Amino acid sequence: MKPKALIAHKLLPEAMEYLDDQVDYEIGTSGKSLTKQEIISKIRDKEGLLSLLVDEIDKDIMDSAPRLKIIANCAVGYNNIDADYARQKKILVTNTPGVLTETTADLTWALILAMARRIPQADKFTREKKFKGWELDLFLGKEITGKRLGLIGMGRIGKAVALRAQAFRMEIVYSDPNRLTSEDESAYKAAFLPLDGLLQTSDIISIHASLTPQTYHLISREKLTLMKKDAILVNLARGPIVDEEALAEALEKRQIWGAGLDVYEKEPEITSRLLTLDNIVLLPHIGSATYETRLKMAMIAARNLVQGLSGKRPDNLIPSI
Ligand code: GLV
Repeated sequence: MKPKALIAHKLLPEAMEYLDDQVDYEIGTSGKSLTKQEIISKIRDKEGLLSLLVDEIDKDIMDSAPRLKIIANCAVGYNNIDADYARQKKILVTNTPGVLTETTADLTWALILAMARRIPQADKFTREKKFKGWELDLFLGKEITGKRLGLIGMGRIGKAVALRAQAFRMEIVYSDPNRLTSEDESAYKAAFLPLDGLLQTSDIISIHASLTPQTYHLISREKLTLMKKDAILVNLARGPIVDEEALAEALEKRQIWGAGLDVYEKEPEITSRLLTLDNIVLLPHIGSATYETRLKMAMIAARNLVQGLSGKRPDNLIPSI
């Protein structure tokens, strides 16, 4: 008999085919995410759960699933899962690291360039047939080449962003609780700086940290006041790392030059003041959204699920489990 699992959201077809052979699954939904009550009612008799980052997997859900052995999250971040409680209950938790590094680093640069060169605004202007000919000061943006890039978080994605920055001959500084080895600092051409120094001196600041109690509102009102007047801040990590109201205020007051966000504090809600500003570019959490990468993520999550269900040690246990 195949083990029973809840697949919270229908995955891409190849991953579903893989699961067909291995697991007796119920698909939670192929539309919007499930509510907590829906997850609770579907998970009672399941040994495995494949969750997405929008599924909040808390104590109540784990307590209502006495047979649960594994939660395979289809994301690299796992702040949506109460991992401490899972550890107490001896439930395995896995994520999908590695495969989305390059994709997310690519989008980081797309967002930096979109903001620096005002691409969405210029596209809108052109479509609206407002382009009446070349002008010396039409859509003047910010230069990237040779500027200072400040990376908050120097894990896999931060490093991949740093490698791309070398093509722009940028000076790279980073802040991270785990300092790189001196070999890595040379390889990534990145110098360590404490956070305040990074914020005070960087032209582009890009966040690549995990969301933890320590990084919640790391970019606070006070930290925003440290940034240069012509700084650009981008966040493709997790929304709550930035105090969104404080950012809206800083952008309204032109205290910094611009921002790019792919993630939000209370996703999918967005602080409404941000929506009316012209000095921000907003994306709908698509950091890893290429077909190739999302398929790899789904396959890894599915494999982790199957490994956990069959009593094997899954390939991608999260560090604290
Ligand atoms: C995306 O945000 C992820 O954590 O995989």
